[in-house]
Amino acid sequence: IRRCAPLSDTSSTETTQTSELADIEWDNLGFGFLPTDYMYLMKCAQGGSFSNGELQRFGSIELNPSSGVLNVGQGLFEGLKAYRKQDGNILLFRPEENALRMRSGAERMCMPSPTVEQFVEAVKATVLANKRWVPPPGKGSLYIRPLLIGSGDVLGVELSPAYTFLIFVSPVGNYFKEGLAPINLIVEHESHRAIPGGTGGVKTIGNYAAVLKAHTAAKAKGYSDVLYLDSVHKKYLEEVSSCNIFVVKDDVISTPAIKGTILPGITRKSIIDIARSQGFQVEERFVDVDELLEADEVFCTGTAVVVSPVGSITYLDKRVSYGEGGSGAVSQKLYSVLTRLQMGLIEDKMDWTVEL
Ligand code: COI
Repeated sequence: IRRCAPLSDTSSTETTQTSELADIEWDNLGFGFLPTDYMYLMKCAQGGSFSNGELQRFGSIELNPSSGVLNVGQGLFEGLKAYRKQDGNILLFRPEENALRMRSGAERMCMPSPTVEQFVEAVKATVLANKRWVPPPGKGSLYIRPLLIGSGDVLGVELSPAYTFLIFVSPVGNYFKEGLAPINLIVEHESHRAIPGGTGGVKTIGNYAAVLKAHTAAKAKGYSDVLYLDSVHKKYLEEVSSCNIFVVKDDVISTPAIKGTILPGITRKSIIDIARSQGFQVEERFVDVDELLEADEVFCTGTAVVVSPVGSITYLDKRVSYGEGGSGAVSQKLYSVLTRLQMGLIEDKMDWTVEL
């Protein structure tokens, strides 16, 4: 591994001076992993706190087979994006929100976590070091994946004695193969993503392993993703494997309330604020699965999926379609405001973007 200068010196290293674009086909980005130049690593030894983070050449990391993340699943991830503006500068979207969410997830998973400042500085350094991988304006974004894992040795059910905070990045386009076209969801009625008191409300890696079975089966049947119901009443909407869900009826926008079993999405929260600022009424509440039958529009939100209109939902033997398979006016409006803000095309009155 070739080591770079410590974090505080990164602005003067060769890593930040590369402004040309990587030599890849920028028109065909999907949502798949592409290795880039640098990753960021910071460690926390037993009883200590995170310090001495540094950029390293991107590559495999060494992990003992007995590490906490591999044996008891002590791990969290985050996701955020960087966009290249027309003037070449780069914008991050609300990185301190990801830092705060990692801190609350770390508390639930009994892990120490970087401070908000350490997290945000590490994200900035990693993006700048990989600047040539930030897609040209309009071609996609650089997806940033911070990880927090138990990297010390365990054998029983116990806390990892050491932790690693890591960031890698990958250029991405649309999450769903449908691109910006409406997606088709299926409501899962046998398994559940989360239980009250569990870890559904934090971004622990196990939440994503738990949905793989239903997700894989749904994809094999041609659906884009799976919509989960609550595990107690088995009738209230929770979230989709990779994103939050919104239902529109008569210009009122409703979304499942945050109550510990769904992820408090940063795009979800931003879309609620944008919708209210555009004059929509937004309700965070229990949303009954039967409301899908009457809805005018349904859409999903998430860092990866941005705002994705839903074209149809299948529940048991019923299939309901929205807007004759077209994208609804409300989701189009919200998508447009959010993405123009993230790309620096409109004034950021919310003070959400961070320019590098
Ligand atoms: C994100 O939107 O960043 C997520 O973490 C979802 C992920 C499963 C792609």
